[in-house]
Amino acid sequence: MTESAASAAPPLVAHAYSRRVAVVHGPNLNLLGTREPEKYGRVTLPEIDARLRALGAVRGVAIECVQANGEGELVTWIQEAGPRVDGFVINPAAYTHTSVAIRDALLATGKPFVEVHLTNVYAREPFRHHSYLADVAVGRVMGFGALSYDLGLTGLLDRLG
Ligand code: DQA
Repeated sequence: MTESAASAAPPLVAHAYSRRVAVVHGPNLNLLGTREPEKYGRVTLPEIDARLRALGAVRGVAIECVQANGEGELVTWIQEAGPRVDGFVINPAAYTHTSVAIRDALLATGKPFVEVHLTNVYAREPFRHHSYLADVAVGRVMGFGALSYDLGLTGLLDRLG
């Protein structure tokens, strides 16, 4: 094929994205922006998701975002997403401190995940110091507000290679 013919017919890109990551937000995170802004900041969940999608796009990674308030809803969503994603970024919110079911669902996928929190949970009440995900996560990022998610996604993508 000559050079001019090639430029006349640009190749189709079959798959723009080489990887897929799920971002999972737990209960009450739909209220970000107005929920205790002195702790959680003023950035809304749609703004966080848009940033993560943009960050993913420049790395060729499709980002799927979900938020649910119910533990069972989150478990079912993780089960369904497992086969189609390469890994998870998850802020389980209050379920961090209570949910064996979410831990088991993530482990059942066999996919790596990063645990993120907007706040530094160790600077808060003692009941927030325990995480059911901490020992099985690739890593944990907390205390940087919405930036925790960006850092978590960056760390996961580095791990995925
Ligand atoms: C949180 C911390 C949790 O303890 C709390 O229940 C949340 C948010 C955070 O992002 O800082 O809902 O996960």
